[in-house]
Amino acid sequence: MNEKNSGTFTLINDKTGDKYTLPIISGTTGPDVIDVRRLYSETDHFTFDPGYTSTGSCESSLTYIDGDRGILLHRGYPIEELAEQSNFLELAHLLLFGELPNQKESEKFVHDITYHTMLHEQLMNFYRGFRRDAHPMAIMCGVVGALSAFYHDSTDINDAHARMVASYRLIAKMPTIAAMAYKYSLGQPFNYPQNNLSYAENFLQMLFAVPSEEYKINPVLARAMDRLLILHADHEQNASTSTVRLAGSSGANPFACIAAGIASLWGPAHGGANEAVLNMLTEIGHKSRVSEFVKKAKDKNDPFRLMGFGHRVYKNYDPRAKVMMQSCHEVLDDLGIDDPLLELAMELETIAREDEYFIERNLYPNVDFYSGIILKAMGFPSSMFTVLFAVARTTGWIAQWKEMIEDPTQKIGRPRQLYTGPTARTYTPLEQR
Ligand code: SDX
Repeated sequence: MNEKNSGTFTLINDKTGDKYTLPIISGTTGPDVIDVRRLYSETDHFTFDPGYTSTGSCESSLTYIDGDRGILLHRGYPIEELAEQSNFLELAHLLLFGELPNQKESEKFVHDITYHTMLHEQLMNFYRGFRRDAHPMAIMCGVVGALSAFYHDSTDINDAHARMVASYRLIAKMPTIAAMAYKYSLGQPFNYPQNNLSYAENFLQMLFAVPSEEYKINPVLARAMDRLLILHADHEQNASTSTVRLAGSSGANPFACIAAGIASLWGPAHGGANEAVLNMLTEIGHKSRVSEFVKKAKDKNDPFRLMGFGHRVYKNYDPRAKVMMQSCHEVLDDLGIDDPLLELAMELETIAREDEYFIERNLYPNVDFYSGIILKAMGFPSSMFTVLFAVARTTGWIAQWKEMIEDPTQKIGRPRQLYTGPTARTYTPLEQR
């Protein structure tokens, strides 16, 4: 990797006067880090950082975020340029291999992914074990976790070819698995992948085609879907990516690691926020109630938070939210939909961003704030929103997992703690309690 030592940090224990010198490591851009790997062995102290607000868990060269300036780069390329000029599989290649593919590499990568989109036929039986009203994220956790039972030949994490096959299988099969979860909830037959279609077009046909009529691809929706996938592909060491890395650090197979990532993404504070945003906008219902909900969001005694607002890293506008809003207008205009929820969302953003509470805390719309409105316009129920996020993020997860496995310094993740429970005491027999 491109790290380099650049000076030292000296810690002084004021109680004992002991001094400890810790190396500072610089990356190619962004904050330097204090290397605390020797801290415990030298000082008998742990660092303490619940939620890892000030902790770097790894070295990575995939994605860089400057939260203060609202910058997101994938291998150095700004997300705005990738969303405008690239496509999802090209970004997948960039994340996996570090460079945008040339024409020949692109054709081979697209072919290889395309020819992994089918699922083992027996996996279809898994769906029938779920209730029809099962949340599709529950189905995703179950089916993806079961993949290692069907693709055992690509679970040897120490074999580079097996790692590549597993990565391709996951990127290729996630749309098929997601579409089948949606079809199952509708009681409609599953659609097989069509190899003559692009990744986004194929995803749409598996989701929306029915046997009784020809499915016509809407190029505006296909472009919007491809852009949605690009915007959700990877995002540094967020909760679900850290989950995948921690699971993978024990040597667990990649299918199980991605299933763990899906479970973490489901939370409303993370990937589940897009579904929560739409539910929130529906509950607000009308512009006249926006101020009431902004007041609730500011009330410390009220657990309500403005869903789709705020971010652990971005203290400026999430660059993905800007692209998402543009896409929103394009899709709604093309479909001739005048969704009052979009106007409501824009009113909510305006009021919140003029409010001292949100300004002081640098709370801006994040990637989830507008995405639900596009997905609703495309015909998705809100229960499918996080599924689409998981389809896209699988590429980031597996690229981060591959980077970790191929990092010679990686070891099993095993944080410590500040123990505040009872100290040692003697067992009291039942009759004496
Ligand atoms: C994603 O990490 C990633 O990269 C994630 C993601 C990705 O691509 O992987 O970008 C995707 O998860 C986007 C975030 C989606 N979640 C939501 O939209 C849910 C609503 N947002 C909040 O839950 C919150 O903003 C978080 C969870 C996103 C971030 O929380 P932090 O970093 O722990 O910040 P915090 O809770 O410490 O908030 C700081 C202050 C607090 O107030 P004070 O204690 O200082 O008085 O801001 C307040 C919070 O109460 N606050 C909010 C708020 N978000 C933070 N108040 C009202 N509404 C909100 N949405």
